[in-house]
Amino acid sequence: MNTREVEELYSKFVLPTVKRVPFCLVKGKGSRVWDLHNREYVDFFPGWGVSGLGHCHPAVGYAIKNQIRKIVHISNNYLNLKQAELAREIAKWSFPSRSFFSNSGAEAIEAAIKFARRYGHDTGRYEIITLKRSFHGRTSGAMTATAQEKIHKGFDPLLPGFSYAEFNDLDSVKRLVTQKTIAVIVEPIQGEGGIHVATPEFMRGLRSLCDEKDMLLILDEVQTGMGRTGKIFAYQYYGIEPDLMTLAKSLGNGVPIGALVVNSKIKKEVLTPGTHASTYGGNPLVCVAALAVFKAIRKEKLLQNVERLGDVLREGLVKLQSKYGMIKEVRGKGVMMGVELDRPGDPFVDLAREKGLLINCTQENVLRIMPAITITKKWLDKGLAILEEVFEELSKK
Ligand SMILES: Cc1ncc(COP(=O)(O)O)c(C=O)c1O
Repeated sequence: MNTREVEELYSKFVLPTVKRVPFCLVKGKGSRVWDLHNREYVDFFPGWGVSGLGHCHPAVGYAIKNQIRKIVHISNNYLNLKQAELAREIAKWSFPSRSFFSNSGAEAIEAAIKFARRYGHDTGRYEIITLKRSFHGRTSGAMTATAQEKIHKGFDPLLPGFSYAEFNDLDSVKRLVTQKTIAVIVEPIQGEGGIHVATPEFMRGLRSLCDEKDMLLILDEVQTGMGRTGKIFAYQYYGIEPDLMTLAKSLGNGVPIGALVVNSKIKKEVLTPGTHASTYGGNPLVCVAALAVFKAIRKEKLLQNVERLGDVLREGLVKLQSKYGMIKEVRGKGVMMGVELDRPGDPFVDLAREKGLLINCTQENVLRIMPAITITKKWLDKGLAILEEVFEELSKK
């Protein structure tokens, strides 16, 4: 089958919820992927931030293969050793906590919303503040939490009780706090929103505000988590701890898993039996994959790799900025970088792909560069060289 024929199958049988590029990937290894016609690409945006360890990481593949031979799925009302081990592993890397496992980031956010509402129920508090330009997912609650009008359009009435503050503006959050506010949800780095990094003052200010008002600080680490910024979780840059944290994307390196991580400082038992559940959530297959991800991060010293190669990536992008005036700003942390242009980014994404490099564009003019945390200097340099060719060519147009 060729790309054209796959496209025809799509137009006949798949709902067009996403603007799809006529481009069909069939194989991946580390930071490289191959299309249907066996053309090779360097991948600077593996699986929309999901394949954090790169494609087909051998340890994750081995864990999955091994588990498939034993048991794939068991009912969540039985004890699942791998789920318990994974929850313990998350606590070890973060803070004393207990987790709930979902199948996606949006579902982890839904669980956080339900947790917050139930936490505040006795005192009549249910309002949640989120930040403008945020992204928390596409299910009804997560979409409402997402403070972007274009994502709400046509779906009103939305879930009641949400208000939207300015990112990195503590006063704007304070102005929205009412007697009924129970939580604030924030991404340490807004990913889909255009790679905007929260300032230490903002994050620490939110922590103090939440402590003062007995509100929950919910950090959405779906995109920033699992080492992408150089720390296992980005909140660790700020010297604070969240009350709740959501994870997904790289947690399973490609198998569908998300988590709501609840800080054990919260003494109240909130999501009691019968209040929340997921049939698939945290089955043995996805949990062994996530356990293998944590193990590889430790064994292969991947946080150090991000620190080292994150600097190379930043320097490479800053060098491009000094050469090409159309780059307004380079920002981000580790291997989660944004390049803001003074023009639309799609032609850059398209030309990069033609030249053998996969990148993404968000918010119309921010190129998003998020290579795997396993990337080597060789493939980072190769990708940066292609990117430079792209800028050179488009600067002449
Ligand atoms: C910060 C953040 N939260 C939540 C989500 C939603 O995750 P999912 O697409 O797995 O539902 C995303 C997806 O991009 C995200 O970036």
